Amino acid sequence: MGLAGKKIILGVSGSIAAYKSALIVRGLIKSGAEVRVLMTRAATDFISPLTLATLSRAEVVTSVHSGDSWNNHVELGLWADAYLIAPATATTLGKLANGICDSPLVAVYLSARCPVFFAPAMDVDMWLHPATRRNVERLRGYGNHLIDVESGELASGLTGQGRLAEPERILAVLDDHFARHRDLAGHRLLITAGPTHEDLDPVRYLGNRSTGKMGIALAEAAAARGAEVTLVLGPTELSTSAAGITVVDVRSAREMYTAATERWADCTAGILCAAVADYRPATVAAEKIKKHGEELSLRLVPNPDIARELGLRKQPGQYLIGFALETENGPANARAKLERKNLDLIVLNSPRDPGAAFGHDTNQIQLIDRNKATAYELKPKRAVADDILDRLAVETAPS
Ligand code: CTP
Repeated sequence: MGLAGKKIILGVSGSIAAYKSALIVRGLIKSGAEVRVLMTRAATDFISPLTLATLSRAEVVTSVHSGDSWNNHVELGLWADAYLIAPATATTLGKLANGICDSPLVAVYLSARCPVFFAPAMDVDMWLHPATRRNVERLRGYGNHLIDVESGELASGLTGQGRLAEPERILAVLDDHFARHRDLAGHRLLITAGPTHEDLDPVRYLGNRSTGKMGIALAEAAAARGAEVTLVLGPTELSTSAAGITVVDVRSAREMYTAATERWADCTAGILCAAVADYRPATVAAEKIKKHGEELSLRLVPNPDIARELGLRKQPGQYLIGFALETENGPANARAKLERKNLDLIVLNSPRDPGAAFGHDTNQIQLIDRNKATAYELKPKRAVADDILDRLAVETAPS
């Protein structure tokens, strides 16, 4: 079963359908999941926190300010394998879509790195209102999964769309998600990510603006789908402690080269996401370089090309994906890079596209191989990561 051993947060908001959250918690626990419940204040008018605490075998959080250690919203957001918000009222959808953080339910949502599922419940006219439609679309745009409402008799006495999906269906969606998402089990995946820093002297370096977000998203998504991941990560503020990922911290291109080439033979696939400096200073000054008022020239020498080296050493059965950041002639340049480095697939992104590439939480890509190019919409990096991994899963599936 997909849910066994999974850590699930359930967010309950104030709808008459909140009573069904008891059945959801029971179903999750019976499937072997570990559950933590968050409730909005309005939800507590419909179902008692004691009921959900008893069923989930854990304290229920109803306020951002209760001081226990596990209800720290960042910690809880990192703990979970999935966050389910059910029922999600019109108000809660609006708060989630706009980041209005007045309950633990929204605070954890904003900190969560795991997939988020939301199951709305409301009256038919509220459900069809453009404000609700826009909030639902916005949440889907953030990469969250809608568990659609069902049609039928509503608490208002009206009949139509707006009923919370039946608990069995909600549980089946989650179970399916985890079962399907073990599709990279058996893969040993090498990912390079982040920038490199090329030292000039003990205090200065040449670097670039890569943050490592895309590579970390890839590592987390791949680990969630069952891959064993080695993340060779250049110097950045960000990192990850997700299960299934071994992080190897490196600083310079040469360190990254050594770490990646040493591990490649043992891997089934590689994704080279790092923004590696093509050049480094020819010498590193032992002492801080002093200014002397005149022009100063730096002599740079080429760094080893990690992608090219892994491409050269690639064995049958290994699949290698590179990235190309191009400002002009994107597809043609990317395909030439693919050939030159003996890659199987290249991910093209352009810093000219709004919201794409360095530093953003979103990215817009094309996947290019020797035969075809496939364009994707602008999406959160985690959803982009899943698009890339979907392709990897298809290309490496046993025939
Ligand atoms: N790459 C690498 N090692 C390097 C340089 C690049 O592994 N020393 C990888 C990147 O991680 C990326 C791909 O190669 O997957 C493309 O890198 P890029 O620097 O854009 O390509 P170059 O071949 O250096 O071409 P150019 O600088 O001319 O765009």
